[in-house]
Amino acid sequence: MYDKINETVEYIQKITRFKPSIAMILGSGMGNIADEIENSVSISYKDLPHFSISNVEGHANKLIIGDLCGKKVIVMQGRFHYYEGFSQSEITYPIRVFKKLGVEDILITNAAGGCNKSFKPGDLMIINDHINMSGSNPLIGPNDERIGPRFPDMTSAYNKDGIALIKKCASKLDIKISEGIYMFFSGPSYETPAEIKMASILGADAVGMSSVPEVIVARYCGMRVYGISCITNMAAGISGEELNHNEVIEITRLTNSRFSKLVKKLIEEL
Ligand code: HPA
Repeated sequence: MYDKINETVEYIQKITRFKPSIAMILGSGMGNIADEIENSVSISYKDLPHFSISNVEGHANKLIIGDLCGKKVIVMQGRFHYYEGFSQSEITYPIRVFKKLGVEDILITNAAGGCNKSFKPGDLMIINDHINMSGSNPLIGPNDERIGPRFPDMTSAYNKDGIALIKKCASKLDIKISEGIYMFFSGPSYETPAEIKMASILGADAVGMSSVPEVIVARYCGMRVYGISCITNMAAGISGEELNHNEVIEITRLTNSRFSKLVKKLIEEL
């Protein structure tokens, strides 16, 4: 793994000497902010050694490196999902590459179903903790102590100062945002109403099919993590309506300008 990471990093550094300090992984339909990056270099996943390629609609499969709001950033336009058949280790490979490139802060976003009944589609939620219901973990397997500890702590997986900062940014921009716990299901089927009832009883405010493996590996590597969910629908059984991916894409599209403003403000303040 260590040698593979070095190969990917060398490939990127041959294309650009840019040293990003902030990484962003953007959820379905939330990739537009990458278009605002200045002096950008774009690298297709297919050209990157040891990278996977996602087949999900709304994911561009590109790394964008450049300047955003005065900061050096690297953005994953499109992420890998457990439900696509990748292992959680494959999904999180880019995080290890980012660490080696010098990234210290990572913003991870996703589309999620709301199981907190006070939420509405289009709401934004700061993730303040998670529950991993996937039955797996991206760190299963041999550990390389040069990268991180065997048993990484997850007490403050989502940076406490970061949560306060996102709230401050949202308030300055007059954007409503709540905070809550994200529960990770493998998907790809949406949850059943019974599973959502369980999720709520266990303390989840939102459910989704991504982010948790990336957060675990980012913390393992010692990065500061910030998480934001866009609530695209009420989770199964809450509103009684059936769920579909088009609705998820449509709501993220409608939320994009608010979401981008918030993200840019956060990047500026980090
Ligand atoms: N469940 C799981 N993942 C999701 C949902 C949902 O309701 N909405 C968007 N991603």
